[in-house]
Amino acid sequence: MNNYYELKIAINPDMEDIVSDICFTNFDCEGVVLEEETYKDLVMTSTTKGNLRVFLTSVDRNPIEVLKTERELLKSRGFSDEELGSWEVSLDEKENQDWSKKWKEKWTVTHVTDKIAVVPSWLSYTPKKDEVTITLDPGCAFGTGTHQTTQLCMKALEKYLKKGDTVADIGMGSGILGILAKKLGASAVYGCDIDDTVIDVAKENAKINEVNDITFELNTADKIKEKYDFVCANILHNVLAEIMGDLKNIMKDGGIMSLSGILDEKKPVVLDAISKNGLKIIDTIKQDQWISFVVTN
Ligand SMILES: C[S@@+](CC[C@H](N)C(=O)[O-])C[C@H]1O[C@@H](n2cnc3c(N)ncnc32)[C@H](O)[C@@H]1O
Repeated sequence: MNNYYELKIAINPDMEDIVSDICFTNFDCEGVVLEEETYKDLVMTSTTKGNLRVFLTSVDRNPIEVLKTERELLKSRGFSDEELGSWEVSLDEKENQDWSKKWKEKWTVTHVTDKIAVVPSWLSYTPKKDEVTITLDPGCAFGTGTHQTTQLCMKALEKYLKKGDTVADIGMGSGILGILAKKLGASAVYGCDIDDTVIDVAKENAKINEVNDITFELNTADKIKEKYDFVCANILHNVLAEIMGDLKNIMKDGGIMSLSGILDEKKPVVLDAISKNGLKIIDTIKQDQWISFVVTN
């Protein structure tokens, strides 16, 4: 067994998924774990004191330089030092001890609502009566079902999706929202993302979940000609604001859109874009410091 590398990054625990995504995109990354004590300690979740442990099979690019650049980019998009955490980094070479199993042990079934559970692919789980389950391999793309922003979209789908609706998921990551939409009765699902590494992951997840009439591809909302009954977009607040007009253009008349990825204190940016595009808010759903808007046209 080859040795592996462990990158330890001091982050605000709220940044777990964003920093994980950066690591999966830029490094030979096999898994991430937010140190359990910080994850469970509710007091610490709003501080900059979490540690993301990132497991790498090799180190080709200088992680410290890459993380410095990515952190600057997030700062230029409006994230404060406190929201980000210091991103102080340490890198250690470790003797390999079947660590992939170790991080997998940390994941368990996530009960998003009484009716929706996300199950890691290596666990067997017997659903309760009327419970919808989604089987996923967490750690390969954003969208494991554990993050508040994903859960907010899942709750909106549960509440507002009508059987037979067509659905678009802009920034589908692991494909979790599209898969859920199909399982809740959507007739067809279209998902796109700007990250080419997630397309096959999402397709594989659709296969594991045995859902059909689902298309995942590399694309952006501005190039989509079709219109949908239900649109999901769980992307950073500033990106949502930038592409709000394109998102509106792919909604059918009377369509519904779930907008997530918004830290409570960043909501004015999104509210402004909602209002400028003449969209109407029909529901606001909150979870911890995250907020999502359900809008119509
Ligand atoms: C927060 S993840 C959401 C993943 C999944 N939909 C979920 O809810 O868990 C955001 C995804 O949006 C993608 N993304 C970012 N900007 C985008 C854009 N302008 N158009 C399409 N996808 C985008 C990212 O690559 C990432 O996979």
